[in-house]
Amino acid sequence: MKTAKKSPPSTEPQGAPPVRHYLQFSDFSTEETRYLLDRTAVIKNKFKTFVRHQPLADRTLAMIFEKASTRTRVSFEAGMYQMGGSVVHLTTGDSQLGRAEPIEDSARVISRMTDLVMIRTYEQTKIERFAAHSRVPVINGLTNEFHPCQILADIFTYIEHRGPIAGKTVTWVGDGNNMANTWLQAAALLGFHLRVSTPRGYEVDEKIAAVPSNMGSGSYRAFSNPKEACEDADLVTTDVWTSMGFEAENEVRRKAFAAWRVDSDLMSAAKPDALFMHCLPAHRGEEVSAEVIDGPQSVVWDEAENRMHVQKALMEYLLLGRQP
Ligand code: CP
Ligand code: NVA
Repeated sequence: MKTAKKSPPSTEPQGAPPVRHYLQFSDFSTEETRYLLDRTAVIKNKFKTFVRHQPLADRTLAMIFEKASTRTRVSFEAGMYQMGGSVVHLTTGDSQLGRAEPIEDSARVISRMTDLVMIRTYEQTKIERFAAHSRVPVINGLTNEFHPCQILADIFTYIEHRGPIAGKTVTWVGDGNNMANTWLQAAALLGFHLRVSTPRGYEVDEKIAAVPSNMGSGSYRAFSNPKEACEDADLVTTDVWTSMGFEAENEVRRKAFAAWRVDSDLMSAAKPDALFMHCLPAHRGEEVSAEVIDGPQSVVWDEAENRMHVQKALMEYLLLGRQP
């Protein structure tokens, strides 16, 4: 007599709470985002005063890069080591990801051996597919559509220099790209006013950002004239004219964006104490003049450093939840 075939015992974690991911800025509530920003200040202060903070001992972060990076790699890697953990670095070229192993299978395998995954890739759908098959939290380290860790760092930097961002005016000059989409989500979540000026044909796609028609206490307005968009702004920010993955459009974009350079004339329309930000890498003489990026209103180096501090708070939150 044949006995019924038993399925192998499940190795899925039982009774565990659903895994949280950070794939776009709007994945967290206003309240959670405020917690992260407050927690970043605590974690940064510990680091600056040589107080050890190692809640992620024995934990491993997998970092998957399908596009180039300096800041994202260094900030995640250094941040994870500082918190007592370790990292595994993968690229398309040196892993089976580049040899057509399905993203779902990669997610199943990588998330069985590591505790967190950070991915920089092309389409947002790719990171969503990975997350859907991952046992562990997945963080967006930049996609064509979004760059949430950068905007967290930018907002933390604004708060450090000028206090709360709610009610302030942020002007985005240039491409309606991953950064612009994420600023739009942040304005809705944190209640500030976002003005965006792009050349025609490069507007922000409001459907991608999926911002509700009611922006709460925040607002969004598009301008065709970049100087008008900068009037009385508290923060002026821009990015490269050609993002990674769009290099074939370089020459066309160079012409289209020529009037969207942040220079001292544009900055003169903003408030006298307005800050300038750029996620970097920057091209002096293209999207920003040297006098602005290297001038007294620029906080780009703080912005870059703060990537590490906000991401430490993010990784701690995703793995350990809210700290007392
Ligand atoms: N700003 C930013 O994400 O920089 P990298 O491309 O160097 O990571
Ligand atoms: N928008 C740029 C940001 C680089 C950090 C890009 O996607 O290439």
